[in-house]
Amino acid sequence: MSTNKLDISLAQELEVLKQEGRAKAPERIIEQYLPPKGEKGPRYKLVGSDNEFIRLNSNSYLSLSNHTELAAAADKATHKFGVGPGAVRFIDGTFIHHDQLEKRVARFVEKPAAKIFNSAYTSNCGLAHTISNNKTHWIGDQLNHNSIIRAMRISNIPSVNKGIFKHNDMADLKRCLEEVVPGMDRVVVIFDGIFSMRGDYAPIHEINAICKAYDSKFKDGVIIVVDDSHGMGAYGETGRGTAEFCKAVPDIVIGTFGKAFGVNGGFIAASTTLVEAIRQKADTYIYTNPLSVADCAAAIKAIDICDSDEGLALLKNLKERTTQFRQGLERLGKESIPGPHPVVPLMVRDTGKTHDLVKYLFDHGVLVVGLTFPVVPKGDETIRFQINASHTSADIEYVIELLNHFE
Ligand SMILES: Cc1ncc(COP(=O)(O)O)c(C=O)c1O
Repeated sequence: MSTNKLDISLAQELEVLKQEGRAKAPERIIEQYLPPKGEKGPRYKLVGSDNEFIRLNSNSYLSLSNHTELAAAADKATHKFGVGPGAVRFIDGTFIHHDQLEKRVARFVEKPAAKIFNSAYTSNCGLAHTISNNKTHWIGDQLNHNSIIRAMRISNIPSVNKGIFKHNDMADLKRCLEEVVPGMDRVVVIFDGIFSMRGDYAPIHEINAICKAYDSKFKDGVIIVVDDSHGMGAYGETGRGTAEFCKAVPDIVIGTFGKAFGVNGGFIAASTTLVEAIRQKADTYIYTNPLSVADCAAAIKAIDICDSDEGLALLKNLKERTTQFRQGLERLGKESIPGPHPVVPLMVRDTGKTHDLVKYLFDHGVLVVGLTFPVVPKGDETIRFQINASHTSADIEYVIELLNHFE
C-alpha cells in the first residue's frame, strides 16, 4: 500500500488550483528577527535573500510578539510547569495559567466569563456547536471570515436556517430578520468586528438597535456575536476593540490572542452560563489539548500591557503611524477604504499591476499581501498594508516614497 494513486489525483487537483489562480505561492521563511535600531523599526531576514525586510503584513498590531516581558513570562511558566499540558482540559490538563487567562480576558472585554481555545478559528466552531439546535437561525455578514462560515458548515446548519446580509447593509440585515422561518427559538447574528481584507468595521451600535426590535419575537431572543479578532487590542480608545469604538455592547465576544496581543490562541467571552455550556458541549474545546502555559502566561502579560500606560502609548503610536500612512496614500492620490484601523488597503484594481507592485516592494525590502481574483472580485484587486506600533515614522515615509516612484 502507498499513497501513489492518491498523489496522482491530488496533483491533478493542485494543478486545477494553479490554473484557476487560487494556488498559494511557496511560503517564505523568516530566519532572523532584527530588533529596532535608530530610525528603523524591526527588520526580518528571509531564507534565500540578503535583504532586510519591513513587515507590513503582520497582524501583530501592537508589536508585542518580541516584547521581553512576554518572553520572560512564557519562560517562567515553562520552567515551572513544562512545555505541554499532557491532556485535554477536563482530564487534568487545566493549569493555573489557563484559569488566570480566562479571568483576565473576561475582565478586559467586560464580560462575566470567558473560555480559551487554541485559536479564534476553533472558538467560532465551538460556539456554533454549543448554541445551535434545529430551532436556531444564523444571520451573518456576506464578508464574514472563513472560520465563521466553516463553523456553520461543521455544525450542519441547514441553509433554511441561515441568512446572509450584504456587507454592512443594515436594510439587508432587516430583510434577513424578517425572513427567519416561523418556529425558530433563537436567532444569532454574527459578524467580524473588523473586516480583515478591507479594514472597515461593523456598526455594532446600529446592528444592536435593529436586532433589539426583533428580540421579543423569539423564545431565546436575538443574540449578537462579534468576532473581533482584528479589532481586539488594536481598535477603540483603550484597545477594547470595535465594540468600544462603536460604544456598543455585543452579547458574545470572540477574539484571538494571535494578532494585536502578539501570542496565540482564541477566546469566547459571554455570560457564565454560556461559558459553562461551551465547556460542556464545544468539541473544539473538549477534545483537543489546550494552549501551553507559555502561551497563556504571555497572553496574560500582553493584556496587562495593553491595559497599561505602555499599551496606550503603543496604541497612540499605532494610530499616528496609520494616519501618517493613510495621509501619504492620499498625497499620492491613491485609492483606499477610509477608516482608522491599521489594515490599510490600497485599491490597485488590476491583477498584473498588483503582482508587479508586490514584487517591486519585495525587491525593496517590504513585505505586503496582494489580493487578486478569485480572493477578491475582479476589479477589486488590492494590496493590504498592515501598520504595527513598532513601525517608525521613517519606515512609513520609506514605503510611501517607494509607492511614489512605482511606475
Ligand atoms: C475574523 C477572524 N476570525 C478568526 C480569525 C482566525 O484567528 P486565529 O488565527 O486565532 O484562528 C481571523 C484571522 O484572520 C479573523 O480575521
